[in-house]
Amino acid sequence: REAKMETKILSFLGLLYVACSCAFPVVPEKEKEDMQFKYLENFYDFQDEKRSLFKAENLDRMTDKIREMQSFFGLEVTGELNRKTLDMMKQPRCGIPDVRSYSTFPQSPRWKKEDVTYRILNYTPDMLEDDVDEAIAKAFQLWSSVTPLRFTRLYSGEADIMISFAAGCKRTSLYDEKHNFLTPPLFFLVHGTLAHAYPPSRGIGGDAHFDEDENWTKFTTNNGYNLFLVAAHELGHSLGLGHSNVFGALMYPIYMAVDTRNYRLPQDDIDGIQALYEAPTELLPREEPTEMTPMRPEDCDPHLTFDAVTTLRGEILFFKGSYVWRKSPFFSVIEHDTISSFWPSLAAGFDAAYEVDKKDRVLFFKDDQYWAVSGYSIDSGFPKPIQNLGFPTSVRKIDAAVYDQNTKKTYFFVGSKYWSFNENTQSMESGYPRKIAADFQGIGHTVDAALQKNGYFYFFHGSNQYEIDLKNKKLVRIIKSNSWFNC
Ligand SMILES: *[C@@H]1O[C@H](CO)[C@@H](O)[C@H](O)[C@H]1NC(C)=O
Repeated sequence: REAKMETKILSFLGLLYVACSCAFPVVPEKEKEDMQFKYLENFYDFQDEKRSLFKAENLDRMTDKIREMQSFFGLEVTGELNRKTLDMMKQPRCGIPDVRSYSTFPQSPRWKKEDVTYRILNYTPDMLEDDVDEAIAKAFQLWSSVTPLRFTRLYSGEADIMISFAAGCKRTSLYDEKHNFLTPPLFFLVHGTLAHAYPPSRGIGGDAHFDEDENWTKFTTNNGYNLFLVAAHELGHSLGLGHSNVFGALMYPIYMAVDTRNYRLPQDDIDGIQALYEAPTELLPREEPTEMTPMRPEDCDPHLTFDAVTTLRGEILFFKGSYVWRKSPFFSVIEHDTISSFWPSLAAGFDAAYEVDKKDRVLFFKDDQYWAVSGYSIDSGFPKPIQNLGFPTSVRKIDAAVYDQNTKKTYFFVGSKYWSFNENTQSMESGYPRKIAADFQGIGHTVDAALQKNGYFYFFHGSNQYEIDLKNKKLVRIIKSNSWFNC
């Protein structure tokens, strides 16, 4: 299982050469370069324009990103990857990208009430339960002492902030002992880091996860991480704060072992949280799904169908109406969310979605329009009409889309036919549309949603999914549409 996960990470990163280098203690220069690349890509939104003919331009942009990082961390700004910069890249850190001069998340989400609840779902075996309770309570106190917020602990049911310990990737740094880059860039949820938390919203919003592969401690020591300190940082995210570039601030993205007896919240963090909560909070009723919004179906409902399915930075996202199910390669639990908690300006009810992972881009389709997103942000210039992709005006909407990593082509399904779009040339291929049944043996019906994963296509139709061999396009087996959910 471990080996399988490793392969997944590696193939996801497209770093197959890292797989080879694991066997050798020496890391060639070229690979080091690529690892640094990955770091910048992860945390500084640096996009390697693989298709760019102008390598020099790419190098310039990389230098800029290194400068940005050096400036963020208060290092000497040289644009060069010197020893100090490399060491900074290897620090254990929190899994949210650094944004210079940013103190909140996009759209500044915050709790629109003063009474916020939390629940501790499980405990780490590293500490006494009472000590865990105390560390968490003290971390909340730091924030409640400077805001109108009141935190109440729940022992059952759904709290606003759910706190849990879970074993993730067994890494504390972005590199292993052999300096191999290991962290897959997941959706603002970077594994192999100490912990992560989600900004305020319903569902998973506000929740904080701590990596059980770490040694959690009551006091600051050399062989573990002070739970109070990490929890206080993560709860900052749970309340809506992003990272700070002020060295010594609690929201600085790198763990700093400081003595936490008589710990006081640094001024920069007080300024940040008061920018979000200083104003008297208007007590809005908790937003409940209205009659117009049907309830989210149960994961294991045998009749469950989906509107669209896509991968996103290593996870699989399943869409239906305004709901999203997230399947991470590291956790067996399925996370539930709403589309609006990720992309507030996108309308729910997608027809299709697909990811071109090399470009870190996901495209969403609804009626005759489509949007491109990278992580949280919607690319500018969208929505665009689907005719821009080469569809005739007679096509009013598409049923499903899937990107084939092997051929670099995207297939669009419309009724009983499909189209093939060349992602390299950004044009529709001639000779299409063709009958789905003519090329995908055993598929004699429309496709609701489509996914490519582990060497197979999965075509969803009603409550079933059809597993199709990527190479020969033959039907392998039919499984239930929710078979990813451990039902
Ligand atoms: C975890 O930290 C505690 C406290 O410093 C220490 O006693 C213990 O040996 C550490 N455990 C591991 C596995 O490092």
